[in-house]
Amino acid sequence: MKVVIGTNEEISKQIAEEFIKQVQKKPDSVLGLATGTSPLQVYANMVKANKEGRVSFKKVATFNLDEYIGLEGTHNQSYRYFMNTNLFDHIDIDKKRTHVLKGVGDYEAYAAQYDDEIASFGGIDLQILGIGSDGHIAFNEPGTSFDSLTHVAELAESTIVDNSRLFNDISEVPTKAVTMGLKSIMNAKKIVLIATGINKAKAIKNLLKGEKTEEVPCSILQDHPDCTIYVDEAAYSLCK
Ligand code: GLP
Repeated sequence: MKVVIGTNEEISKQIAEEFIKQVQKKPDSVLGLATGTSPLQVYANMVKANKEGRVSFKKVATFNLDEYIGLEGTHNQSYRYFMNTNLFDHIDIDKKRTHVLKGVGDYEAYAAQYDDEIASFGGIDLQILGIGSDGHIAFNEPGTSFDSLTHVAELAESTIVDNSRLFNDISEVPTKAVTMGLKSIMNAKKIVLIATGINKAKAIKNLLKGEKTEEVPCSILQDHPDCTIYVDEAAYSLCK
């Protein structure tokens, strides 16, 4: 794993450039996308580049990591809504080629065929990840099998608490989600992970200095052949 340290502004710009280069090189790239606060500036930079005419997303396909169970795509905390409002509505992407797991209806059936659907597009060329304070990636909480594919998952108590900041009340945070598995994520050809702030420092220490164990889901990335970890000083502070 490579490590890049900078301010949120710097690393977000660098990751956006990775996406832009990828799409310039291969206009029909398959992009793996994440939600959360961490990638927001990355997406803002991608929107800017698209508006400036530096890159077109017309031919790309996207697959998102996860979705809360119980939230319609129109709910303002659903990950479909997040992607539309923070990225897709502002770029020249074909929405039919954007894939976000379903949180309602036949969500289990859709999840069961998600990995095959990704494979039918040729696999993910570039995947962005955030990280949970407990070391989760997507919604793969501690204890998730390294062999997992897309599945229904229970959220850890700490994740419910972390994510409650975005809801009116903690009781509104869904307790379950559908998520790409750890093996699904490892299938991506290239991975970039972004983490900022002191709340992520322990997870980043476990990722960069700890052993590979299912108790630390992100530690599986130690085995990925092309993975770069982008951090700010606070997130990196326990690694020195
Ligand atoms: C959620 C998402 C993860 C994300 C994490 C961190 O639990 N399922 O994909 O990485 O939150 O979010 P943030 O970037 O807001 O700290």
